[in-house]
Parts: sequence; structure tokens; C-alpha cells
Amino acid sequence: MPKSYKIAVIAGDGIGPEVVREGLRVLDAAGDRFGLEVETTEYPFGTEHWLRTQEIFPDSATDEIIQHDAILLGAIGDPRAPVGLIERGIIGHLRWDLDLYVNLRPIKLYHERFCPLKNKTPADVDMVIVRENTEDAYVQKPVFEHQGTPQETASQQMLYTRAGTERIIRYAFQVAMSRPRRQLLLIDKANAVRAQELYTRVFAEIAQEYPDIETDHAYIDAACMWMVKNPEWFDVAVTTNLFGDIITDVGAMIQGGMGVAASANLHPGKLGLFEPIHGSFPRAAGKNIANPVATIAAVAMMLEYLGEKDASQAVEGAIAALLQSGRVTSLKAGAYPTDQLGEMILELLRG
Ligand code: IPM
Ligand code: MG
Repeated sequence: MPKSYKIAVIAGDGIGPEVVREGLRVLDAAGDRFGLEVETTEYPFGTEHWLRTQEIFPDSATDEIIQHDAILLGAIGDPRAPVGLIERGIIGHLRWDLDLYVNLRPIKLYHERFCPLKNKTPADVDMVIVRENTEDAYVQKPVFEHQGTPQETASQQMLYTRAGTERIIRYAFQVAMSRPRRQLLLIDKANAVRAQELYTRVFAEIAQEYPDIETDHAYIDAACMWMVKNPEWFDVAVTTNLFGDIITDVGAMIQGGMGVAASANLHPGKLGLFEPIHGSFPRAAGKNIANPVATIAAVAMMLEYLGEKDASQAVEGAIAALLQSGRVTSLKAGAYPTDQLGEMILELLRG
């Protein structure tokens, strides 16, 4: 009997629907080749849906979505909605409600022509950033006092729990164990944000359990600098939610741009949410110019998490083959039509 998977799909705003369409075509083709039955349920949530119905993400949808094996998300964000409302209401809601505490963000350069750094090759850019995904300023309420007066204050706590810190650091050690270099870097700003000493202490404690892993530490400002200057120093790094958000955009650039960077929001043993790390790029919506590679790479991460290693490797292999072939010389939006890039990957996947 073929294995079957139920995938919840939230295409979302802007270029989301276009890149997700290509992701789903690739998923279907991988299913055909590897004998998997893939059943998708599309959900309409996003800014357009909110404008029409005032609904962001009903509880009933969460109940339905958790009956699936994975979630594929395109992008959320649209200038017609208040800043952050829909992003937090959908992506944030899923991350926090499903307790998807790992945000796994691989950074891999497939060909040196895509790297903006001089003299760096694929051997220099191959790392994984493990971003904490359920704590930090992200999940704290903003507080505005004396609004509109010269005495106005605005605050939003950076709150870390020991349990939250432990589980993400432990996960990162396991990722480091799975890679040949066996290195793990802790990235924080404990010299200025003293609360992050919790990360320092927990990291040192857990490191005792992993004597085979070589550990190191960097402050976030220096880590951003080194990522550009010496990306080859990085293998696996673990960091807080906010810093992880920032440094993975730097990472996306050195691997060729937002068009290729994918991510997995995970809680081991539960269903995961897979998405490109780019935003909704409203100006490009509907023009067939967005790069779908990041979403297709997210599909590869999804297949791997589902235990479909061969299918995952085939999809990743097709992406690698295309980017290494010379048929694609730019990953920028507009360089190739969205559907054409999807088609080229599909051809390679079908063999
Ligand atoms: C990301 C995005 C989100 C984040 C936004 C859309 C809230 O930038 O997934 O990196 O900050 O986590
Ligand atoms: Mg981001």
C-alpha cells in the first residue's frame, strides 16, 4: 500500500500562491516517483481573506490542521493590513499554538556564481542555524505608556525560560551530532542583554553531555560580521528567536538570496510547518517573477521530516543540479518566470 500524507497548505499573501503552486507541483512529482499519495487541503487564510471576512485564523482551522501530517506555507504580509497583524495571527499563531520550538534554517550555497562574497565557494557556505521559535520578545506584549507625550515609554520583554532554552539547545546539539564537523556555536548578546546569561549557562551544562561536539560562542553582532567575512567558520549555530530571525536573512544572502532560503518549524514528534524564509513581496505578486526555489527547498525539508529520505534527496538533488548546471545564472526575482523555474526542477526530478 502506498504511503499517504495529508498536507495542509496556506499559500497566503503576495507571491505566496505562485511559489506554493510550484512547490506543490514538485511535491506531486516526488509523490509519483516514490509511490507516495499526497492529499492537500488548501486554506484561504491571509490578508485578502481577512479583508473580506475579518477572520484571521479561526480555532476550528487549528483543530483541522493538526489532523494533517505537515503544513506548507507560502508567505504572509500585506501593506493593506496593520503591521504584523496577519503575520503574527497566522505564522506566529501556528508556531506558538503548535509549540513549534525549532526553526531550522539551513544555509547552503550550490554554486559560487550565486554568492555575493568574493572567493567563496560551496565548500565555504554550508551551515545550519537553529533558531528558537516560541520565546523572546516575539511572544511578549508591547506596553506603551504615556502615549503621545514627551514621557512616552515603549517596552516589550525579552523573556526566556529554562525549559525553552534547554530544549532548543539540546536540539541544536543533536543537529551538530548529525553533521560531520560536529561543531556548535552559541550566538547571543549576553554582554549587553544580561538575561541571556541563561543561554550561556544552559549551553555549558548541556555541552557536558556531548563531549564529541566542539563548542564555541559569538555575540550576535560579531556573528553577523563573521558570517559575511568567514562563512566557512560556521557549521551549526543555535540562537534566540529575534537574533535567529536577523542572522538568517544574512545567511540567505550568502547562499544566493531570499529566493533560495527555506525553513522548517518543528517540534519533534509533532507535525511541522515548512516555509520559505522570504516575505510576501507584494510588489511582485501575480507577475510570475518570484523565485520558487525556497518553497521547493521547503518541500524537500518536509519530505525529510516525514521520513521520505529518498524523495527529499531527489528534490534537493534536482535543485542542486539546476543551480549547478549553468542553465540558471541568477536567482533574483524576475530573472526567470516562476513557473519556468518550477518546470526545470520538475524535469530534473522526473529524470
Ligand atoms: C521569518 C519572518 C517572520 C519572523 C515574520 C513574518 C513575523 O521574518 O519567518 O523570518 O520574524 O519570524
Ligand atoms: Mg525573518
